[in-house]
This record gives sequence, structure tokens and C-alpha cells, in this order.
Amino acid sequence: MENLAPDRAALDPIEIASRDEIAALQLRRLKWSLRHAYDNSAHYRAKFQAAGVHPDDLNTLADLAKFPFTTKADLRETYPFGMVATPMEKVVRIHASSGTTGKPTVVAYTQNDIDVWADVVARSIRASGGRPGMKVHVAYGYGLFTGGLGAHYGAERLGCTVIPMSGGMTERQVQLIDDFKPDIIMVTPSYMLALLDGFRAAGLDPRQSSLKAGIFGAEPWTNAMRGEIEQAFDMHAVDIYGLSEVMGPGVANECVETKDGLHIWEDHFYPEIIDPVSGQVLPDGEMGELVFTSLTKEALPVIRYRTRDLTRLLPGTARSMRRMEKVTGRSDDMIILRGVNVFPTQIEEQILKCPGLAPHFQIELTSRDRLDRMKVLVEANPAYAGDDVRAQQASDLAHRVKSIVGVSVAVDVVDPGALERSTGKARRVVDKREKD
Ligand code: DLL
Repeated sequence: MENLAPDRAALDPIEIASRDEIAALQLRRLKWSLRHAYDNSAHYRAKFQAAGVHPDDLNTLADLAKFPFTTKADLRETYPFGMVATPMEKVVRIHASSGTTGKPTVVAYTQNDIDVWADVVARSIRASGGRPGMKVHVAYGYGLFTGGLGAHYGAERLGCTVIPMSGGMTERQVQLIDDFKPDIIMVTPSYMLALLDGFRAAGLDPRQSSLKAGIFGAEPWTNAMRGEIEQAFDMHAVDIYGLSEVMGPGVANECVETKDGLHIWEDHFYPEIIDPVSGQVLPDGEMGELVFTSLTKEALPVIRYRTRDLTRLLPGTARSMRRMEKVTGRSDDMIILRGVNVFPTQIEEQILKCPGLAPHFQIELTSRDRLDRMKVLVEANPAYAGDDVRAQQASDLAHRVKSIVGVSVAVDVVDPGALERSTGKARRVVDKREKD
């Protein structure tokens, strides 16, 4: 794999500024953001008043803990534009995330917000090894989802040539990668695996492709999956994180030279980790729920937005900005099986240790006699044929999951290609449990 580490001279000075400088900038911006939310959003003003706080109560970064949290419910209650803190004429773009139930969550951007977003995505692509002049194939979905357009504007901002493919039409994607020879691909890790199948089906050697780096996010994926993709394509696999409510992709990104967690672009997004039950702020290094406060957003400021994503904050390495550990899962995705907490990523990790299995899987939950059961449907690796091998792989995986994750599961090894491929975020859990 090529060394893609950017020149330090190419970085934004704030990326490598001292912690004191970063904190001073954050405090200044945080005061502005709280004041902006209070003055221009009746929803925030009412929430602050109900909690007995005022923007003037913030004198240090730690004072943020006095302010109330914002959740998806706030956005739902004010659907569609009730939380917009600028006149609607200033809003130049709307995005929405579908969510699993009910109305979508709607988010809004001013021109300045779009510019900041392009800047942080450009920074993310550069951290991943991108440089001006490179070709970037964007296979995140375009539309209300923030992935496609977010990646697109950032790649343009960095000075790259963008190939706006969107998701789907796998054969055509593979053909255009072969013909246009992009350096970078931006796509969900699960759809990258579908593209890998597409390469093989077309008789192309993925290791000979032009791709030097993939920027993967929008769903949890493991370091084991990183190894799998890097090996298959002979390219760097780098993690990008973000969420619509806070901006979209580009809230945090790994650096290609270290791949040790995602640097949070702390000059625009202020992170906290809280205990998801008590709401108490936890010190850096402790695992909990990630909370963000926007520092510069105009149209839709978010104050202490609870992401539901579980991770911890770590000190900076390749950049001075703090890192978040790879997200293992969302509290909403956590399966509680007979008292044991299980995340789909833990299953993914074990599957990738079984050479006879392919990393295409789905978890099915059922209940019988009031007892929850979990079945893992996983595809056989096409290179390993034969029913006896499958039976062996199934029992091997069940054994690994039992001894390492701590739950008993049934494993069904299915034919290669039998599980539905997602073109965006993979749906890992199918819950067929009877609801009381
Ligand atoms: O998924 C934005 C995005 C697009 C990020 C493209 C990266 C690349 P939403 O649809 O609002 O926005 O979903 C946000 O997806 O709270 C996480 O649970 C999950 N997520 C996003 N990136 C990662 C990641 C986009 N790198 C939700 N690792 C978030 C794990 C991620 N989970």
C-alpha cells in the first residue's frame, strides 16, 4: 500500500494547534453557539429556561454540563422546521434521515453551514490520504441522505475530480472504477463488500484496481473488516463518522498514517461522553454515549445532542484534536439476549476469524416460550465448498460466539450471495420477537 500521509504543511493549522489554542477557540465559539440557539430558537430558549440556565452561565467548557440535552425527540416534536434558528430564506439545503420509525429527522443548512461542511469533509478526505487532483468515486447515496452530497462537496473543496455514482448498480460501478481509475472510494463498508463480489464476478482482480484508499462510514465496522478490505483491494481502509443532526459525514475521521481511531474536528463539534443512564459527563478514556454540541452551525445549532453512539474519547496522535474510538454500535442496536449485551460488530469480528465464512451476515431474533433466541445467518466463503465444511464452520462460529461474546446462538451457513445486499447501510438485525 502506498504511503498516503499528507504533508504537515497541507493541514489546517488548527488541526495541529496546541490544546490551549483549541480550547480557547472552543470556548469562544461555544458561547456564541449557546447564545445563538437561545436568541433565535424558541425551542432552545424554552428548554434552557425550564432547566434554569442561561447562555451567560457558561464561563468554562465544563459549564456546558449545566445545559439540557437535545435528542431525536426534540427534532420530531418540532418537525419539520421548528428548530431552525435562522429565517427560512437563509436555509439553502435540507437533508433528512429516514430512521426506523415515524417521521424522518429533518436538518437544515445555511450557505455558511454548507461551506463549513465542505471544509470538514475536505479535511477528512485529506486525512484519509486524498490530495488535490485525485479522482474520488462517491458511492454513498445521493439525496436526502447526507452521505452522497456531503462527500461530494468535500471532495470538490479539496480539489479532487468527483465521480458522483451514488449507491446501487453494482456491475456498472465496477466497470466505471475499472475505466475511470479513481484513487479514492467513499462508500459504506457493507456496500464495498458487494463491490468486491462485483469485481470477482467481472473477472477483475481487485488488488489491481486503481483504488488507493477507501473512506468508509455511516455504519459500524470492525478492525477485522478493515483487514479484510485492505487485503482484498490492496488499499487503505479509513473510517469516517458523522450524523445528520450534527452535520453529516465528516464530524470525525481517521488519519491514514495511524488508523488509531477518529480525530474529531473539534473546532466545529464539541464532544462529551456521558453515562447513558445518569447523564453524568465521564472523563476522557471512559466508555459511554457520545454527545455533540455544534460550535459554528447557524441553521440548526445542536446543543448537547445525544447521538446514542457508544465510544470513548482518547488524546490526539496524528493531530492535536482528540480521537473517538471506532464506534462499536449504537445503544439502539444493542441486543440484550438473556441479559448479555451483544452488538452486531462483535458477531462480525468472530465471522472474520472463520476462513470458511464470508463477511455477509444477518442476525435474526425470535422468541419462543418467552425466551429470546438469536440466529446468525452467514454466507459460506465461495472458496470453501461442501456441506461437511459448512457444518464445521457453523459449529466453529457458534463456539467462538459462545466463548468470546458469551451468548448461545444458532448458526445457519447459507449459499454465497443468498443474503440481500444493501447498497447503503446494511440492516444487520431482523427482529421477529413477539412484542408483549
Ligand atoms: O450516516 C452520515 C454519514 C454518511 C457518515 C457517510 C459517514 C459516511 P445518519 O444517516 O444520520 O448520517 O446516521 C448517523 O450512523 O449516529 C452512527 O450510529 C452511524 N455511523 C455513521 N458513521 C459511522 C461510523 C450518516 N464511521 C449514524 N462508524 C450515527 C459507526 C457510524 N457508525
